[in-house]
Amino acid sequence: MKKLLLVIFVLATVSVSAQKFQDLALTPPMGWNSWNKFQCNVSEILIKEAADEMVSTGMRDAGYQYIVIDDCWQIKRDSMGFIVADPERFPSGIKALADYVHSKGLKLGIYSCAGTKTCAGRPGGRGHEFQDAYIYAKWGVDYLKYDWCSSDGQNQKESYRLMSQMLKEAGHPIVFSLCEWGGSKPWEWASEVGHLWRTTGDIANCFDCEQKHSGYSNWGVTKILDMQIDMRQYAGPGHWNDPDMLQVGNGGMTINEDRAHFSMWCMLAAPLMAGNDLKNMSSQTHDILTNIDAIDIDQDTKGIQGFKYKSEEGLEIWLKPLSAGDWAVCFLNRSVDIKTIDFDWINNKINDEFSKRILNASVETFKIKDVWTKKELGDTQKPLKAGVLSHDVLLLRLSLVKN
Ligand code: GLA
Repeated sequence: MKKLLLVIFVLATVSVSAQKFQDLALTPPMGWNSWNKFQCNVSEILIKEAADEMVSTGMRDAGYQYIVIDDCWQIKRDSMGFIVADPERFPSGIKALADYVHSKGLKLGIYSCAGTKTCAGRPGGRGHEFQDAYIYAKWGVDYLKYDWCSSDGQNQKESYRLMSQMLKEAGHPIVFSLCEWGGSKPWEWASEVGHLWRTTGDIANCFDCEQKHSGYSNWGVTKILDMQIDMRQYAGPGHWNDPDMLQVGNGGMTINEDRAHFSMWCMLAAPLMAGNDLKNMSSQTHDILTNIDAIDIDQDTKGIQGFKYKSEEGLEIWLKPLSAGDWAVCFLNRSVDIKTIDFDWINNKINDEFSKRILNASVETFKIKDVWTKKELGDTQKPLKAGVLSHDVLLLRLSLVKN
């Protein structure tokens, strides 16, 4: 009997800590990451400024939480094998930086790699997994993005499982972001290993381009969007498909395209990691990144990834079931022409088999709000008539009218 109680106790302890780990990302993680704008040009000044800006711009209050230092903060390993931050760029060390970020009500993220070297050639984590997990915990790091360069001969499942286990054992709550670019279909195996996994190669700073390199490509927003289609069943509270960080505000796209990019990431329940220069952000970029109605769609507690309902001549209609019977609907114009919408809600009964939700305007009525203009557009009893500019969206929240 005593033995049985002990086994039950041990099992209960394990499952509670697994539960705690899962609970760290019940909605898609939100934050800022240095890579898209600054690449290797990181320093403690940059990170502190990002934390300051996150507060002063209202981004923290809009839900952004993690400040993530991507590649190039690390320079070598010491004689004991511990990872060393570049003393010129991070003279106060990562612990002091974590303390600073925490003092602003934010959390600190860091980057490493499952292989021997990071993608920028800095020391990777291979063979040092526990040591790294331990030091991150000691520094108070709250988020780890773990890459896949220099990983010859390694297996994704084993490598990421090992690091996940080490992070859990190190004892500090930490969000684990897998970045192996979708090669081993992590959506099929990683929901207990980490909280988010990249689904594709790196995002390019453009709407629909492909940037070819030797052996791999970087992808524009719509190319990445098309790669997310069959994956919605793998996303949910605690584990998310990650179509990569935002390029909003990085100048590669028009404001309309940036708005479409942000809207579609919200429709996908994607992690929202801003990747722009927060200090020199235009008011238009600020308004996109802090649109609370768009963020509410992304952060909806049901955690259901949206789906494409229809596509006609470059105009796509995407839907995302939300809590309390609401829906998000996004008309995405991928064409170069302005599109006219004439959408009869009553004639379009939409059955989402995955979420078991039906949008049926002949039995339920919804109030319609335009998420970008904030205008109320009547209800679903009348067909919706509107125009959408090229490479732009009409993003709507449909709120169920309760009788
Ligand atoms: C890979 C990742 C990027 C970034 C760089 C850093 O390309 O996919 O997101 O972290 O490495 O070197």
